[in-house]
Amino acid sequence: MPDPIKVDRTQVGIIGAGPAGLILSQLLHLEGIDSVVLEVHTRKYIEERVRAGVLEQGTVELLTEMGVGDRLKREGLVHHGVEFRFRGRGHHIDFQDLVGRSITIYAQQEVVKDLVAARLASDGRIVFEAQDASVHDITSGAPRIRYRKDGEECELVCDFIAGCDGFHGVCRTSIESSLTIYDRTYPFAWLGILAQAPPSSNELIYANHELGFALLSMRSPEISRLYIQCDPNEDIANWPDARIWEQLHLRSATLDSGWKLTEGPVIQKNIAEMRSFVADPMQYGRLFLAGDAAHIVPPTGAKGLNLAATDARVLARGLVEYYSTQKTELLDRYSEICLRRCWKVQHFSWWMTSMLHRIPGESAFDQQRQLAELDYVTGSRAASTALAEHYTGLPFTM
Ligand code: FAD
Ligand code: PHB
Repeated sequence: MPDPIKVDRTQVGIIGAGPAGLILSQLLHLEGIDSVVLEVHTRKYIEERVRAGVLEQGTVELLTEMGVGDRLKREGLVHHGVEFRFRGRGHHIDFQDLVGRSITIYAQQEVVKDLVAARLASDGRIVFEAQDASVHDITSGAPRIRYRKDGEECELVCDFIAGCDGFHGVCRTSIESSLTIYDRTYPFAWLGILAQAPPSSNELIYANHELGFALLSMRSPEISRLYIQCDPNEDIANWPDARIWEQLHLRSATLDSGWKLTEGPVIQKNIAEMRSFVADPMQYGRLFLAGDAAHIVPPTGAKGLNLAATDARVLARGLVEYYSTQKTELLDRYSEICLRRCWKVQHFSWWMTSMLHRIPGESAFDQQRQLAELDYVTGSRAASTALAEHYTGLPFTM
C-alpha cells in the first residue's frame, strides 16, 4: 500500500452517504461530535437515485427533530391507510383508526438532498467520489480508513468507523468471517417504473393477482411509482412500456366501480431483486455496520430506509454516551438493540411478501391459503391492527 499523501482525523469516519450515513452524521453534529462522510459516487448521483418512498411516522419525527423536516412537511404526502386488492375487490386498512398513526410518501432522494444540504450548511465534511475505501486497525483504538480522491492516496484516522455503505459496500465484507449471515433470496423481482401520471388513488394499492403482484404507489400529485412482480432473470428490454401498462391494468383491475388506472409517459424503469439478509453481529471492534450494510428486507413492507434510520439513531446514542461519559454500555449493546428490531421487521417484510406474490411452483392450495390470509387480515380488526402497527412503524426502543 503506498504511503498516504493526505492524513486527516475525525471522531467518527462514516463510509456511505445514504440515509444511514447522513442521518448518523447529522445526529452526531447536533451533539457536537465530529464526523467525515466518504461517498464513492457524486453528489448528483446520490441525489437523483430513485429508491424508497414510504417513511414511517417515527422516521418523519426523527428527521423533523433533526432540523431536516421543513420540505418534508411541505411536500410529503401524509397517508392514513393503504388498500389491499384481491379477488378484484379493494379493502381499506385505516391506520389512523386502528393505531392513530400515519406514513408519509417522500422520495428517498429528497431525504438525501435535505440531509446533504443540512450537513454542508453547517460545514459538515462529505467527500464525494472517494474511491477504493478500505478499513484498517478496527480492533485498535485508532481505526483508519484509506481511500483515493482525485488520484491522491488519503487516510482518515478515527475513533470509530460506521459502515453505512449499503449492501454492496466494503465494510461488511471486510469482517464477514466474524459474522453469521442469514440470507434468503426470492424467486421473483420487482419491475418498477416512475410515470408522469397523477396517482390513480389517494392511497397505495397492494394487489394480489393470479398474474402476479402489483403495487401502485406515488411520489407527488403528478408522479406515479408503479411496480409489478417479474422473473428475477428478466431482461428489462423485454418490457416495453405498453407491456408494463397492460400488466398493471390487468393486475389492478377491480369490480369496484369508478376506479381507473391513470397512464402517462414512463420516465424511469428498473428491476430490483428481492432478498432478506441479516449480518449478526452488526459490529466488529470499532467498526459498526448500519442500514443495508447489515441487513436487507424485501421492499414489500417498505421498511429498508426506516430500519437504516433507526440503526443510525441507536448508534448515535451509543456514541453520544461514549463521548460524554467514556462508557461503552450502549455501544456494546448496539447490535443486540438493532437486531431485535431488525428481526421483527424481517418477519413483517417476509410475511407481506409471502402473502402478496405468486410463488413459482405454488399449488392451488397455497393460493387459496394466501387469499384466506388476505381476507382475514383485511376483515379482522385484530389482524388489521397488527398490520397497521408494523406498517406505520414499531415504537423505538433501546
Ligand atoms: P444506501 O442507500 O444503499 O446507501 C449506501 C451509500 O454508500 C450509497 O450512497 C453508496 O453509493 C455508498 N457506498 C457504497 N459502497 C461504498 C464504498 N465502498 N465507499 C464509499 N461509499 C460507498 N425502504 C423503505 O423504507 N421504504 C420503501 O418504500 C422502500 N422501497 C424500496 C423500493 C425499492 C425498489 C428498493 C430497491 C428499495 C426500497 N427500500 C425502501 C429500501 C431502501 O432504499 C434502502 O433500505 C436504503 O437505501 C438503505 O439506506 P442505507 O443508507 O443503509 O444504504
Ligand atoms: C415506493 O413508493 O417506492 C414503495 C412503496 C411501498 C413499498 C415499496 C416501495 O412497499
